[in-house]
Amino acid sequence: MSKLKIALQKKGRLSEKSILLLEECGIKFPNGGAKLITGSTNFPIEILFLRDDDIPQYVEQGVADVGIIGENVFLESRKNIRIVEKLGFSACRLSLAVPKEISYSGLEFFNNKRIATSYPNLLSDYCQKNNLNVTIEVISGSVEISTGIGLADGICDIVSSGSTLLSNGLKEVEKVMNSQAVLVSSENLEADKQRILEKLLFRIRSVQRAKENKYILLNTPNDKLEQITKILPGMNSPTILPLAKPGWSSLHSVISEDKFWDIITELKEAGAEGILVIPIEKMIL
Ligand code: PRP
Ligand code: ZN
Repeated sequence: MSKLKIALQKKGRLSEKSILLLEECGIKFPNGGAKLITGSTNFPIEILFLRDDDIPQYVEQGVADVGIIGENVFLESRKNIRIVEKLGFSACRLSLAVPKEISYSGLEFFNNKRIATSYPNLLSDYCQKNNLNVTIEVISGSVEISTGIGLADGICDIVSSGSTLLSNGLKEVEKVMNSQAVLVSSENLEADKQRILEKLLFRIRSVQRAKENKYILLNTPNDKLEQITKILPGMNSPTILPLAKPGWSSLHSVISEDKFWDIITELKEAGAEGILVIPIEKMIL
């Protein structure tokens, strides 16, 4: 029986959430220690902990079948691999930053300047698109110190909370692109591995969908029932149960997280009472 080899980031912004995602998918594996490869006790998968920047190459070569990396790393790598799913976590942006004391007036500031980055392909595309002539200094880590040591006039790096920039006396001045965690796969997976990937994807999507939705319960007088039902989009039709209190019903439904506050307000205005909102663990369509 073959196993799907999945590469996760060993240490960094993505690692904890990647491990959490597999756990939420019900995949059990020993976690921690210095182990670089671990198997699962209840799913045909093998987990490889690697440097994220190396993952595209490993997936292309078939050392791993799939991997979780930042979209930025995927786009920079130019490897023959594909995105199977955007995972929605570890959102960040690739940005240009300069020392905070610089009075930045616009993109032309960077003309004929040196920019340090670990993303030369993405940066050079961006400069070309914006007709900027820059010298790109490629470094593989600690990009944020490069202006301080005189290597560059600005940097192009990943910004998430912004605290790395702040603690290095830098300010973000332009956004090059948005990024998030993505699941990548080799272009040609064997059929049995593809089947395992489909199973994994089914679980990932159920977990993601659950996070995007809330279970809602509310009480309503029966004469408001029709109007309140119309407000709730739901997966399908809501569940309606009679309350012990005569003339009242309890209504259960599912609403999406992003419409949540608008809908709650509308429901209250329409006469709903005792509204309870509950997180959903898994949502299977
Ligand atoms: C990025 C970037 C910064 C940090 C920014 O590193 O190089 O070090 O994240 O995050 P902050 O805005 O929340 O401080 P990344 O996670 O890509 O790690 P890596 O460069 O070691 O792969
Ligand atoms: Zn990295």
